[in-house]
Amino acid sequence: MTDTAQKFTNLFRTGKIGNVTLANRAVVAPMTRTSATADGLVTDEMVGHYGAFARGGWGMVFTEATYTDKEYSQGYINQPGIADDEQARSWSGVVDVFRQHGVPVFMQLIHAGAVNQGNHWKDGSIAPSAIRPINEQIDRYNGSGPFQVPKEISKSEIRKTIMDFADAAMRAVDLGFHGVEIHGANGYLPDQFLTTYTNSRTDAYGGSLENRFRYHMELVSEVRARVPSEIPVGVRISQTKVNDLTYSWPGGAEDAAYVFSKLGEIDGLFIHIAAHLGCAPVFGTDRSLAGLARQHSGHVVIANGKLHDPEEAERVLAQEEADFVSIAKGALADPNWPQKILSGEPPIAFDPGMITPLATLSNTRSWRQAQAGP
Ligand SMILES: Cc1cc2nc3c(=O)[nH]c(=O)nc-3n(C[C@H](O)[C@H](O)[C@H](O)COP(=O)(O)O)c2cc1C
Repeated sequence: MTDTAQKFTNLFRTGKIGNVTLANRAVVAPMTRTSATADGLVTDEMVGHYGAFARGGWGMVFTEATYTDKEYSQGYINQPGIADDEQARSWSGVVDVFRQHGVPVFMQLIHAGAVNQGNHWKDGSIAPSAIRPINEQIDRYNGSGPFQVPKEISKSEIRKTIMDFADAAMRAVDLGFHGVEIHGANGYLPDQFLTTYTNSRTDAYGGSLENRFRYHMELVSEVRARVPSEIPVGVRISQTKVNDLTYSWPGGAEDAAYVFSKLGEIDGLFIHIAAHLGCAPVFGTDRSLAGLARQHSGHVVIANGKLHDPEEAERVLAQEEADFVSIAKGALADPNWPQKILSGEPPIAFDPGMITPLATLSNTRSWRQAQAGP
């Protein structure tokens, strides 16, 4: 064992999510790359992108958020989909590259709801309430100006989105993905139900926390019930949003206790926290949101947020805040991050200029190095 491996014993231990074994605790977080074709098919550049992670020494890799129907789920132009068999088949090169390297790959599934700045299939957007999302569209995903005002989603449309998520999950499983994650975070459709200022409904999906969390519970339960029990199913949860990095759950620790104990009622789930601001304690407790998720749910938890510093990742694991850590920007900067940490070589640091579609990114130094293999 090298000195570094001894220093980061928790990070470089094997672990399990359900029946899936991960060689270590470092996971690539989902990262939208807006590099699919206009109709949501995976491109060769994407296969190359994921191949670099497959070779980089990661325990598991999440795909970017992948849309689930050809109605209103797509959020960004050039986002990939898994809404039909053709889109599903286009992922086979990505699945193959992970199989070749013996690394598990989980697909993240999304419905953008109101945070929709480009849909190839339909005009307009749907959301819990007809409320325009705050702030402006995200320029790194080719958006500009205000978001459109969404149409209020009906009860039958709510049910349809849930069934579409479950169908998409099954397409991913049939193709060979080792697990699926429902994007319940970052301000997209499920999170629009949970967030007070995007949900003014007066029916069973609005008002109390129990009602605002109902969509998550129905969605996660349906997908978990449909996907065979040996395949892990997870849900991503956050306070902040792509268009609001300041939102915090109004009921603080009590909201966390409710949300995570409800998810604890669903067997065979993992929870993945998204925390752009990092893994510090929240709500005056001594635990991060990941720590509270673990405490209240009893599920396997993946922590996230500024964990590219391996000392911080090791701390989070050693203090049992989480079972795994996910890394986004650090992985984008250096797809060989785990191997570099193990060998004591400093990984390439993140630069905001790296968040470009893949055709441009592949020209940067870290990616030329990664494509060539370690
Ligand atoms: C370019 C980029 C794209 C992202 N796309 C997604 C996504 O598709 N799904 C998701 O859940 N989070 C997405 N995120 C959020 C990350 O998964 C992660 O939660 C966030 O960047 C904080 O982790 P970090 O400090 O390791 O970067 C994205 C982040 C970046 C930088």
